[in-house]
Amino acid sequence: MISLRHLNKSFGSLQILHDVSLHVGKGEVVVVIGPSGSGKSTMLRCINQLETMDSGEIYLDGQPLAAAHKNAARKIGTEIGMVFQSFNLFPHLTVFQNIALGPRHVRKLNQQQVKDIVETLLAKVGLLDKKDRYPEQLSGGQQQRIAIARALAMQPKIMLFDEPTSALDPELVGEVLAVMKDLAKEGMTMIVVTHEMNFAREVADRIVVMADGRIIEEGQPNDIFTAPQNPRTREFLKAVIQE
Ligand SMILES: Nc1ncnc2c1ncn2[C@@H]1O[C@H](COP(=O)(O)OP(=O)(O)O)[C@@H](O)[C@H]1O
Ligand SMILES: [Mg+2]
Repeated sequence: MISLRHLNKSFGSLQILHDVSLHVGKGEVVVVIGPSGSGKSTMLRCINQLETMDSGEIYLDGQPLAAAHKNAARKIGTEIGMVFQSFNLFPHLTVFQNIALGPRHVRKLNQQQVKDIVETLLAKVGLLDKKDRYPEQLSGGQQQRIAIARALAMQPKIMLFDEPTSALDPELVGEVLAVMKDLAKEGMTMIVVTHEMNFAREVADRIVVMADGRIIEEGQPNDIFTAPQNPRTREFLKAVIQE
């Protein structure tokens, strides 16, 4: 479904991504772990074309998506959905209106189609009763579930999550992970950066470990958690699992 080939990326003289290659199959859930500053967000931002690459290629569904030094080789518009640590909902729009923006203005659907899609997604994330509320009237967990619904409203082929629960109070983390787990079960292709190791163990088809801008190890969750090969993976897991 998505293929990153030999990505390199520097900020100024500092190289942030070193020859990163990653292939994610349709319906696969890949969880990316690794210490802070290892380039996880930068990799996701390159996929979503929020950053340009210095060299390398990204293919989506076999088609080149982006190439080094080029602006959007192709409009990704509706193909990639992304959910960030901060929810970034529009504060002056209701929940319904926040989710309706993409279907209405980008997908150009009619009013009834928009309504159907938004209500279906709100039901999916368990928040249909909140459709006329404003973001500030919702908890962080609810806002993040709305942000997921908003991304899904574009019917993306792949969903990227960058530490979606890191800004939440601990008691709100579970409800967001539950929505992501449902999505994985339905066969969505997902790349998830998270420190939630139980989620990684339970939901990931594959774990990718990054350190210093490189993929240092990847494998089945069970192998990575019980028999990590790279000493840096061992060190990282020891630190996060002790927390
Ligand atoms: N826009 C930027 N300009 C300069 N340096 C950046 C920028 N974004 C990220 N970096 C640096 O790139 C490195 C990797 O960052 P990031 O991809 O955010 O790592 P992670 O998500 O794994 O914590 C860090 O050293 C960070 O300081
Ligand atoms: Mg990050």
